[in-house]
Amino acid sequence: MNRTEPLVLGIETSCDETGVGIVRGTRLLSNTIASSMDEHARYGGVVPEVAARAHLEAMGPAIEAALAEASVTPAELDAIAVTSGPGLAGALMVGVGAAKAFAVALGKPLYAVNHLVGHVGADVLDATGGPGHPVEVPTIALLVSGGHTSLLHVRDLTSDVELLGETIDDAAGEAFDKVARILGLPYPGGPQIDRAAAGGDPNAIRFPRGLSLPKDLAKHRYDFSFSGLKTAVARWVEQRTDAGEPVPTADVAASFREAVVDVLVTKAVNACLDRGVPRLLLGGGVIANARLREVAAERCAAAGIALRIPALSLCTDNGAMIAALAAQLIMAGHEPSTLDFGADSTLPVTDIQVR
Ligand code: KG4
Ligand code: ZN
Repeated sequence: MNRTEPLVLGIETSCDETGVGIVRGTRLLSNTIASSMDEHARYGGVVPEVAARAHLEAMGPAIEAALAEASVTPAELDAIAVTSGPGLAGALMVGVGAAKAFAVALGKPLYAVNHLVGHVGADVLDATGGPGHPVEVPTIALLVSGGHTSLLHVRDLTSDVELLGETIDDAAGEAFDKVARILGLPYPGGPQIDRAAAGGDPNAIRFPRGLSLPKDLAKHRYDFSFSGLKTAVARWVEQRTDAGEPVPTADVAASFREAVVDVLVTKAVNACLDRGVPRLLLGGGVIANARLREVAAERCAAAGIALRIPALSLCTDNGAMIAALAAQLIMAGHEPSTLDFGADSTLPVTDIQVR
């Protein structure tokens, strides 16, 4: 196996994106994504069984498309990589099964990796296909999507990642989706709220900041909670409606978004300051949020923290980040996984690779 610039195909199926990516070392060759998002729209959120079925249908074509785009034949690959967890169990199983079958059929080494650390690994890649670079460490990483909200302290991408905190109820993206629904906006809610908030006043309504009071901070300094916020928005809208008054959608959207962004950025910047880490890396689909990018940039600049935001195509779930993390593991001398691993929906972040 080429350990200097390994050619790796990565498979990602932890949620609703079937991602297949190919990298050569730190260079991105292809990033193919098929999403089943439209199929979940009428349910207002990802339905695990629907996602798993869609992965099954999308997998073959996605692998073929990724190979074609990268102009690579299966025989040339140095290794196959796959997300083992965390994520939706049924969805993960499709990727794990496909990766094992592909690796065994080709006689290639297989690397089972952690989805969350994969989001951090995305930072080695240049989305336009230019030469990448190792992730600068130490760094704090804030990962926010429809499925997770996690704050990590990364001392070494391939050997030392610590979970500082995570959501104790809804993920941030999930909160956007639920509040969009309350406001009568379609799924996925994030982009809709962003659009609706554009003309609104972020200070119109003071919505609660979850786990931010001194008594909560003692135990949950780096944890998040968004279900109280969602309920507060629902109650506010309900009271307005019951009183026969119009609901100022723009102000509610802007104020809700401000509350989410405020908590995310405050906790991430605090982690940087507490740990003496001068770097913050963002990842996950919620990073598309215009206000989140703005507030993160402002507060990081004020605190002397270097902010890194990979291209959005690498922030949302994708197979290239899984390939990139495996390539880093290979370059660092890590041995392949055995075929004993399975899908692990609650894989801890400390398990960067599952042996
Ligand atoms: O990473 P991602 O594509 O994958 C899943 O978690 O499935 O993230 C999707 C999530 C959804 O909850 C969506 O509402 C949210 O990211 N999202 C946003 C924005 N764009 C997408 N949230 C806030 N603002 C946005 N502009
Ligand atoms: Zn993700």
